[in-house]
Amino acid sequence: MARLLSILAAIVAVTGPVCLAYPREVPASKVFLNGRQVDTEYDYIIVGGGTAGLTVADRLTEDGTTTVLVIEIGKLSNSAAITTVTGGFSGMSNPSLLFGIQSVPQRNLRNRTVAVQIGKVVGGSSAVNAMMTVRPAAEDFDIWGSFFGPNSHWSWQGLLPYFKRALNFVPPDEAVTKSANITYDTSYWGTTSGVYAGWPSFQYPSTTAQMEAFRGLPGVPFVQDSGSGQPGVYWYPTFMDPKKVERSYARTGHHDQAATRPNYHLATESKVRRIVLDGTKAAGVAFVPASAGSTATETVLSGIGPRQLLSSANIDTVVDLPGVGQNFQDHPIIQATFQYSRFNIRPNPTDLFANATFRAWSEAAWAANRSGPNSIATGNAAAWLPFPVISSRADEIASALEAQNHANYLEPNTDPTVAAGYRAQMLAYASALRSNGSAFYNLVLTGGSSNGILVDLHPLSRGTVNIDTSDPYNRPPRVDYRALANPLDSVVMAELVRFTRKYHLENPLTRDWAATELSPGRSVQTDQQFADYFARTLSPTEFHPVGTCAMMPRELGGVVDEELRVYGVEGLRVVDGSIMSTLVGGNTCQTVYAVAEKAADLIRYGAPKIVE
Ligand SMILES: Cc1cc2nc3c(=O)[nH]c(=O)nc-3n(C[C@H](O)[C@H](O)[C@H](O)COP(=O)(O)OP(=O)(O)OC[C@H]3O[C@@H](n4cnc5c(N)ncnc54)[C@H](O)[C@@H]3O)c2cc1C
Ligand SMILES: *[C@@H]1O[C@H](CO)[C@@H](O)[C@H](O)[C@H]1NC(C)=O
Ligand SMILES: *[C@@H]1O[C@H](CO)[C@@H](O)[C@H](O)[C@H]1NC(C)=O
Ligand SMILES: *[C@@H]1O[C@H](CO)[C@@H](O)[C@H](O)[C@H]1NC(C)=O
Ligand SMILES: *[C@@H]1O[C@H](CO)[C@@H](O)[C@H](O)[C@H]1NC(C)=O
Ligand SMILES: *[C@@H]1O[C@H](CO)[C@@H](O)[C@H](O)[C@H]1NC(C)=O
Repeated sequence: MARLLSILAAIVAVTGPVCLAYPREVPASKVFLNGRQVDTEYDYIIVGGGTAGLTVADRLTEDGTTTVLVIEIGKLSNSAAITTVTGGFSGMSNPSLLFGIQSVPQRNLRNRTVAVQIGKVVGGSSAVNAMMTVRPAAEDFDIWGSFFGPNSHWSWQGLLPYFKRALNFVPPDEAVTKSANITYDTSYWGTTSGVYAGWPSFQYPSTTAQMEAFRGLPGVPFVQDSGSGQPGVYWYPTFMDPKKVERSYARTGHHDQAATRPNYHLATESKVRRIVLDGTKAAGVAFVPASAGSTATETVLSGIGPRQLLSSANIDTVVDLPGVGQNFQDHPIIQATFQYSRFNIRPNPTDLFANATFRAWSEAAWAANRSGPNSIATGNAAAWLPFPVISSRADEIASALEAQNHANYLEPNTDPTVAAGYRAQMLAYASALRSNGSAFYNLVLTGGSSNGILVDLHPLSRGTVNIDTSDPYNRPPRVDYRALANPLDSVVMAELVRFTRKYHLENPLTRDWAATELSPGRSVQTDQQFADYFARTLSPTEFHPVGTCAMMPRELGGVVDEELRVYGVEGLRVVDGSIMSTLVGGNTCQTVYAVAEKAADLIRYGAPKIVE
């Protein structure tokens, strides 16, 4: 969807597909549709066959009569880089499955640029992600609704049924559950989706020990199930088909079943260039073969977005929507690496290299029935902790956040509605900083003898994703994370690192492991020293881009309303990660699936409706 709008206006490809309701005309260029041409009329057209797009397409075509066309720029791929679960990250290392976009130089990160990773293949980012499936805290969703008032159906309660519909939970087998001390509660899960939340059949005892070690620090909550909406230390599943032990994603879980229906059409390797507008009504979609270069003759962009930006690209504004491409957020990854010199809990991942006996066992287990360590993707355990649990400065930092002149930390000349939305978000975050129901701290536990995946779950800075006005059709969007634009981010992050030091260095349950701090290093102590350190080392992305078509009231800079309809345009919705007004405190894919499931009901029934 963001792509759709991108074409129109300001964002390209930063998150999902766009759903175009009631289009009448599809000017078909060359299309690849299992050898046939697309029709000229559909009930719905979906731009982008990614995580959300394929979910919505599957649901809308379930009745066997509603016609849907999905237009996807990537290929239908059976690459092993997608299906392989081992290590979790193989899709990410395969450029042919990704958009090759580089961010603009990050001013507060010493002008470093980073790769903007987004899946470009049928299945979208669900085909290349690290397979961690995490349901964020209940309060994250209540914040979304709060911008619309107390009765919004965008709340934890309003989304929980869709989380259950979104995934098919298959519990870990009894042996690993017992030996690793895994806990889960199936009452938070469903069993009908084609997308699986499964578990590897092996866990390292060292992972369990790293989890248990959080009991050595006061006040850390332990949570029974990752789907409960409570922050704490918990186990979570993997986007994996537990029978095949392969990645389960939007293509396998939704496309493959929709493809058996005559009313579902997918055009692959086709690039959507614009939405065809009839006045302010979305009437169709114009697309070209993905290989088409800059010679295409079309000159009319859709014209939905910030007027000033559009006019600098010589695009007529049809609907002035200042929020398009603003409010961009992602999870920063902080380098905080600790190495254990006496890590004697065996086996641990190091033994895959160091211990021939263990490696031989591991290879045999995989060959026999796809069990053992090779069935682990990125890992299944992490701490997701509220700010008051990790820091005594929660009230001080929350008060400082409330007292800010928030607009100072946005781009100069940001539209007042967008600035008002940012202020509303920061006031909500001040409450979240003081709350034990919202997680800011994330340390991923892999069982290894060094560990460095420390994530800030609620960054305060906001970036932009804008068209490149010099050639909006053919140049990639200008992606600017604006990392550390709000100086309180580095204060929050310093507290995250200080707590991580406590876990590794001042914890009776980790003492035996004899940790050494490799980074930041003991010379980094004060808030100022931390700010310098982050400027040098922070990664502004955990590949969770959201926010650029925010679901917020229009007077708060929103792009879509609570039904996900684009303000001022008839027949056009955005359904994907870009509608998240505030980035949730967890990896984003499970939330995108749930949003898409809910959107499908909003589209077909006009209201949230769970049909059991
Ligand atoms: C490397 C990586 C690792 C990640 N790890 C995790 C993880 O472990 N756990 C987790 O929960 N989340 C993870 N995520 C994030 C998660 O996968 C995404 O948030 C989610 O998949 C986004 O879904 P979406 O529908 O918004 O967009 P996408 O799934 O990206 O779908 C967008 C689709 O639109 C297509 N498209 C774009 N422009 C056009 C155009 N002009 N015309 C036609 N089609 C177009 C794209 O090719 C793509 O298929 C990761 C993401 C990445 C990239
Ligand atoms: C980053 O780039 C900007 C614009 O080119 C320049 O003004 C600034 O000095 C650079 N900063 C650093 C630390 O190099
Ligand atoms: C297993 O978890 C329980 C709590 O759920 C805890 O009391 C116990 O110490 C754990 N055992 C191990 C071996 O970690
Ligand atoms: C949050 O939890 C911590 C640790 O259990 C506790 O000290 C603190 O009082 C709690 N704060 C709130 C606001 O509940
Ligand atoms: C190697 O791994 C095997 C199997 O896990 C274990 O029994 C053995 O003690 C390990 N050897 C060393 C040196 O750690
Ligand atoms: C896989 O096979 C091994 C022996 O070959 C057996 O011990 C184990 O239980 C099997 N695991 C699963 C998950 O089937």
